[in-house]
Amino acid sequence: QKSGFKHFMLKEIFEEPMCLVSVMTGRIKNGKVHFEELEGLKERLKNINFVKVVACGTSYHAALSFKYFLENLSDVNVDAEISSEFRYKRQHLKPNDVVIAISQSGETADTLESVRLAKRQGATVVAITNVVGSTLSRESDFTLYLNAGPEISVAATKSYVSQITLLYLLALKIMEIKGIWDEKHEGLIDRLLRMPEIFEKFLDQVDNIHQIAAKYKDFKHFMYIGRGYGYPTALEGALKLKEISYIHATAYPAGELKHGPIAMLGPDFPVFAVAPNDFLFSKTKSNIIECRSRKARIVLLTNEGNEEAFELADDVIFVSNSIDELYPILMTPAIQLFAYYVADELGLDPDKPRNLAKSVTVE
Ligand code: M6R
Repeated sequence: QKSGFKHFMLKEIFEEPMCLVSVMTGRIKNGKVHFEELEGLKERLKNINFVKVVACGTSYHAALSFKYFLENLSDVNVDAEISSEFRYKRQHLKPNDVVIAISQSGETADTLESVRLAKRQGATVVAITNVVGSTLSRESDFTLYLNAGPEISVAATKSYVSQITLLYLLALKIMEIKGIWDEKHEGLIDRLLRMPEIFEKFLDQVDNIHQIAAKYKDFKHFMYIGRGYGYPTALEGALKLKEISYIHATAYPAGELKHGPIAMLGPDFPVFAVAPNDFLFSKTKSNIIECRSRKARIVLLTNEGNEEAFELADDVIFVSNSIDELYPILMTPAIQLFAYYVADELGLDPDKPRNLAKSVTVE
């Protein structure tokens, strides 16, 4: 039931504050992360310095956010790979390795085959899925559930927010087990707990995002850019837009622009810049200025209090001010709503995009 929403996609975006609560419930106690499900893995995690992650589509973008987070805050090396590539490459997993397989549906054929391959090599597999009893959960050694409730729309939305949040909790748990824990980690837990409320507040500004999206519906191309934590968000923004609006959208790390993609930009090729005022903002800002000098229109997704926003961009979407690591979670509803309203303005049904299925059970 759409509960009064025009589409499941919109309803599911509005469920995100609730999903944030569900995914954290029982998993944060006294300022620390608890995963009863992972008791048997604790010893292994103590000395871990490498994790492999496999996933497809949106789930792969969640894997990338995990990589940036854990690598920036610890000495653990994270190799995130698209399942359909992983499964056909020679792998060098060792019996002590841990592989995380992420799949909302738990039925994605390439991810399941990757899990089978990893297990044949003796690795331990931790599944992250939304579907209880899914093939992925049955075939993995450990399972962490998203508890996001059924996701009906083909476009993954609430599951993505839940995946990043769960992966952040897992990363924090790994760090705690490895003895890496200080005020920074305490602050992250504290902010994560406040996230549902921040999301509620953000969702009050949907009309603003709707108005901005309406201005861009007739463009044929879009370039998403971001750096650091903003890069996976840019990739996901472009995927959402092309998947439901059929507008060609591409995403690049902002620093790559000069290596080719900037040649495409012009008045008919707008840029969606994911650029919170984090430690990389001055770098991304230079890239935005370069895009503007090619007369590309700019939609800037940044945080409140960024005083340069309106100088840099034609349109600005603000999220709450936060710490660098949390912007991938905070910025997600903005990219989803932007894509949703572009599709809706074009008269398309974002719940059932052409040529796509909710679960990709064949390779
Ligand atoms: O169920 P999964 O998470 O394994 O699905 C992976 C992709 O097929 C999925 O994320 C797809 O990219 C979505 N339609 C994106 O919105």
